[in-house]
Amino acid sequence: MVQAYEIVDHTHDVIVVGAGGAGLRATLGLAEAGLKTACITKVFPTRSHTVAAQGGISAALGNMGADDWRWHAYDTVKGADWLGDQDAIEYMVKEAPAAVVELDHYGVPFSRTEAGKIYQRPFGGMTTKFGEGIAQRTCAAADRTGHAILHALYQQSLRHRAEFFIEYFAIDLMMEDDACRGVVAWNLDDGTIHRFRAKMVILATGGYGRAYFSCTGAHTCTGDGGGMVLRAGLPLQDMEFVQFHPTGIYGAGCLITEGVRGEGGYLTNSEGERFMERYAPSAKDLASRDVVSRAMTVEIREGRGVGARQDHIHLHIEHLDPELIQQRLPGIAESARIFAGVDVSKEPIPVLPTCHYNMGGVPARYTGEAVTNTNGAKGVAVPGLMAIGEAACVSVHGANRLGSNSLLDLVVFGRAAALRCAELIQPGETHMPLPPHADEPGLDRLDRLRHADGATPTAMLREEMQRTMQEHAAVFRSGETLDQGVDKLGRAWARRGDLKVSDRSLIWNSDLVEALELDNLMYQAVVTMASAANREESRGAHAREDFPERDDENWMKHSLSWCDPDGKVRIDYRPVQLQPMTNEIQSFPPKARVY
Ligand code: FUM
Repeated sequence: MVQAYEIVDHTHDVIVVGAGGAGLRATLGLAEAGLKTACITKVFPTRSHTVAAQGGISAALGNMGADDWRWHAYDTVKGADWLGDQDAIEYMVKEAPAAVVELDHYGVPFSRTEAGKIYQRPFGGMTTKFGEGIAQRTCAAADRTGHAILHALYQQSLRHRAEFFIEYFAIDLMMEDDACRGVVAWNLDDGTIHRFRAKMVILATGGYGRAYFSCTGAHTCTGDGGGMVLRAGLPLQDMEFVQFHPTGIYGAGCLITEGVRGEGGYLTNSEGERFMERYAPSAKDLASRDVVSRAMTVEIREGRGVGARQDHIHLHIEHLDPELIQQRLPGIAESARIFAGVDVSKEPIPVLPTCHYNMGGVPARYTGEAVTNTNGAKGVAVPGLMAIGEAACVSVHGANRLGSNSLLDLVVFGRAAALRCAELIQPGETHMPLPPHADEPGLDRLDRLRHADGATPTAMLREEMQRTMQEHAAVFRSGETLDQGVDKLGRAWARRGDLKVSDRSLIWNSDLVEALELDNLMYQAVVTMASAANREESRGAHAREDFPERDDENWMKHSLSWCDPDGKVRIDYRPVQLQPMTNEIQSFPPKARVY
């Protein structure tokens, strides 16, 4: 039974949940279009996790050698191991050069070439001429590109008078007859509850990396939008595909950008061997992330890891010019010193593949509209709901994302969602009244967790889930380990009823915030494990030891997963879109990946 809460009502044309790169780019576009927009965010915008994106944003600008958006499209399709939708990929890479120039004009302080052009570095899987050469395609602001983009987008949003609700925690969607009507949120600062009614809710809530014990994501990366979507009875897509970044700092998990290898850094094993030459003779250390992470894991498993426990790998940049490190990689030099105690000019950095990115998310069209069920490749739109950025699965990254395609995804699809809203919604259109009790499922959940008086602290249950994910849904998986993972998570799910929350207040109650976040993580953990157990092939980041080959005949399809309130997962499928959007580019039919 919901206790009395102080409720405040708001009406907007559009609500954006999340203020990372995607949420801010959408908010800015909506404000420019004259739509009354509220951006709700649980952290201050410039502390959103995009701030941690280091290496850069991809775009075939051709500033540092010949380039073509079609080559970028091919690399993205290949990197995705042919699970990406080629129409959406075409849209993203074709829009990329204009998107980067737009960021430049918004004030992003990109690094520059001698000629004053935007500096571009090589990144894993980015090639020229459909795989022939190495492309310099990743536009960088030193190794703090996400930081620079986030600040510019926030400043531009303020300039256009977008409305921000900062340190508001979105609890749940308000649904009516399978349509989204708004969001119910909790103001962490004064304890009031807010009902935001809108014609469109755009989820830009990021990934759920914190479902894992070791990840490059901030503690705030709890996939709150994915949890809300599953609780609303809607599916998530391709959740089995979780990317491990090859170079998380050993022990701490913090990211060491792939840009390090783009600038000439390389990996070695305990024998001092540059082992990537064996696994990817052509691309070597710049093969795509799934390939490098698997190679590192094999080296460690076969006893060639470094350190006392032989359980990690060395990343070298001692040979690089100190001035280059100072100019292009100052952030990672600092991270290595703080988190690994290493002076990068003298010693290698200890690194380990670490959970980094969720290819899966809310199924969405390239215009942002969330979809459900199967209706050919398009799916059926969910009225009133969009998803963008890492929270969404458009799917441009398919089974494995290429580094620097994420910042691109954020700004291209953030902008596209705003453009689509401007087509669909008249500023100031009248709203139907909210259905009675629209906020009740969310408030019931808040109330239940606030008064949870069991015996299991949130931190204990969270660690159980994180260790299960780390062990059973890792770089390599098998039917046996995944089935064990499904059982373990089933037991953890049952313990949600025994949760203990000690603080009952509503003012900055981080105990309760963590319980709500854990709930969101648990929903996504169970669908991830079940989807991985279900997919009997190896593709991209999903490497099944019992099914080592890609199986296009049976598995060239997206999986959709629903989660019942009792934690049971149901799975269905959507076709992969192999046709591009226009005839400016050919379709890339599936073939074996060679690096
Ligand atoms: O390695 C990096 O700088 C990460 C970039 C990305 O995930 O796109």
